[in-house]
Formats: sequence, structure tokens, C-alpha cells
Amino acid sequence: MNRRTSVAEHGNLADRRDLAEWRDLADQLLGWFRPDDRQVPWRHSSDPYRVWVGEVMAQQTQIATVLGRYDRFLTRFPTLSSLADSSLDEVLKAWEGMGYYGRARNLRSAAKEVMAAYGGRLPEDPKRLRQLPGIGPYTAGAIASLAFGQDEPAVDGNVRRVLSRLFDIARPTARRLEAAARRLIEARPGRAAALNQAMMDLGAVLCTPRAPGCESCPLAVHCLALARGSVADRPPTASRRRLPHQTVGVGVVWREGRVLIARRPPSGLLGGLWEFPGGKLESGESAAAAVKRELMEEVGVEVRVGALIDRVDHAYSHFSVTLHFHEAEYLSGRARPRAASEVRWVEPGALGDYAFPAASHTIVDRVRSTGRVAGGA
Ligand code: ADE
Repeated sequence: MNRRTSVAEHGNLADRRDLAEWRDLADQLLGWFRPDDRQVPWRHSSDPYRVWVGEVMAQQTQIATVLGRYDRFLTRFPTLSSLADSSLDEVLKAWEGMGYYGRARNLRSAAKEVMAAYGGRLPEDPKRLRQLPGIGPYTAGAIASLAFGQDEPAVDGNVRRVLSRLFDIARPTARRLEAAARRLIEARPGRAAALNQAMMDLGAVLCTPRAPGCESCPLAVHCLALARGSVADRPPTASRRRLPHQTVGVGVVWREGRVLIARRPPSGLLGGLWEFPGGKLESGESAAAAVKRELMEEVGVEVRVGALIDRVDHAYSHFSVTLHFHEAEYLSGRARPRAASEVRWVEPGALGDYAFPAASHTIVDRVRSTGRVAGGA
């Protein structure tokens, strides 16, 4: 019988396959997998700390972006205990530019917890791993399979796409996907690291969201979505809404050659990062007026607002923002944290020691290199 017909007749393939079919699927995948075809620096490491750092960096971030930064981070924090001993500022600085800073805060908190509760060694049990800050089912499964050789699934976005097509799953819940991955892994015990990563690579290079390369896919004969013509609908895509937009006024406030910076509250968006103080424009308010008002509300300082330095557009995951950076001159008041968690007057040359959000980088660089950035106040 033609294989593809038999697949289509099966209905829900993930539920009905017999062991021989699962093995065949696993073997096709393993035969296709070339670990060195993609550069994933922690792929050949048996150090759980290195695997953990890599997998956390690769969340929401392309591997290509991670590459340069991974070695730098590990040079700065070569061991779990060095990370646990670090200050939040040091970790945020090493993470600067990668976004989703909660990941960096969680890595540091989890390292402290591992020192305190597990004598500095990451636990092997995925349930215990999942109890650590920032470690969800995917990261726990990746650490357990890659670093500890356990038969655990690790379902990331790429694996989700591969599995929901392979088994034509219209509603790919975490449970269903994990069950399918687990059965595949159980068909070839001891090969979970290769099977998980083979699916990640397949999703990255062949089973891509648009224009997948089904002609050269090693799993084509098994793929139920291909047989049914539903590849383009799997997995279902969330309808993209327009991002809400914010307009923000920001003050680069000078006092005797120093500039004022404020630290954001420790949790939430960009938590713990430093910024030039400012805030959202109220209805009908100009950016300059917002800077004056926010400086008083946020850090208790009265300023005279000067020239516009630059306007910067930036898109975050859930909203986009336009930042209006204004020069400003300190007039009175003692800078103290109100909405911010800490404030400092710093020499322009010292700004490089502080982690700033990406949207501020060009302004930070200009202030660092030239001091005052515009004719100004
Ligand atoms: N994305 C995140 N981790 C990965 C890994 N270990 N292999 C391939 N792609 C990945």
C-alpha cells in the first residue's frame, strides 16, 4: 500500500501509530540530523550550566544573535557560582541589547537558588528544574535531555510547528505536543538530545513557517498535514493585532558636567535597567512639558527643558514607542527615587558601566563621546 495513503487513513496519527512507525519516524529524523550543520555552541557541552545559559539566551532570540554574546557571557560568568556572586548590574550589562531582561534577572536568581539548595549543581529532575526562576517546560526538557541525557521532550516554537504538521494537529496544546514528542523519544530511548534538536533544526531550516521545503523533508512520507494539504494552516497563527503605541518624553538632565540617570523598578518591562528619566505624554501635552513634569514626579527634580536632541522609534514585543529626548538643565531639588528605584548623577564617560534599553543606546553613545549632545538649555 502507498505509504502516504496509509498515513492519511490513520486519522490522528499521534494516537494511532504503532511502535514500528514511531521508530521509523525517529530513525528518519536521526538519519537526517547533522549536529554540526548549525552552529549551536552548547550542543557539544556536557556542562549543564553552559547548556542552561545557551537555552535561555536562545529563547525569543535567533541563534545567530546569540552566537557572539554567548562566549562573552560565559567569559564574564564562567561558572554557576560566579553568576550567583554577581551584582544585578553586572548581569544586566552582560545581557545588554538582547532584550527580555527578565531572563537575565531570572538566571541570576536561579543561580543563587542552585547554590543555596543544590550545592551549586543544577538538579537533573525536570520537575525540580522547573521550580527555578525562568525555567519552564522547554528549558527544563532541554537541560534534562542535552546535559543529563534524559528521555525528556523539549518543545519550542520550531518543534511545535514540526509536530503540529506531522500529526496535523489543529489545536496544538502543550499537552498534546509533549505527548507526541514523548512517544517519539520513547521509540528510541537514549536519543532524546538528538531527537529534540533534530526537530528544532528541521523547524529552523526546512519546516519553516512560510514556504516549507516538503520536497526534501525526511519526514514527508509520515507528514499528515502534507497528505491532507493543511501544511499552511499548521500551526494556526494568532491574528496579529496592531501594537499599541506610546509617546514618551525623556530628559538628558545636566548638572555641573554630570548627567542624571534613574534605575527602573526591579520587575516588569526592562526591570532593573538604567535610563534617562522621563515618561508618557499626557493627553494634549508636549514632550517638553512631559519631561518637566516627569522629572519632578519621578525623581523630584525641577528642570528647565531645552532643545530636542533626537526622536527614536522602537518596537517592543507588546507595544511600540517614540522617545523624544530633550536636553534639560538642573534647577533645584535633590534627586531621589520616587517612581524610579535608584537615581545617580554620573560623568558621561561612566555611562558605559550601566545597562540601558536598546532604544537609548544611540543617545547614550552620543552623551558618552561628546558630553553635551545639543546646543541645549
Ligand atoms: N534553539 C534553541 N536551542 C536549540 C538547540 N539546542 N538546537 C537547535 N536550535 C535551538
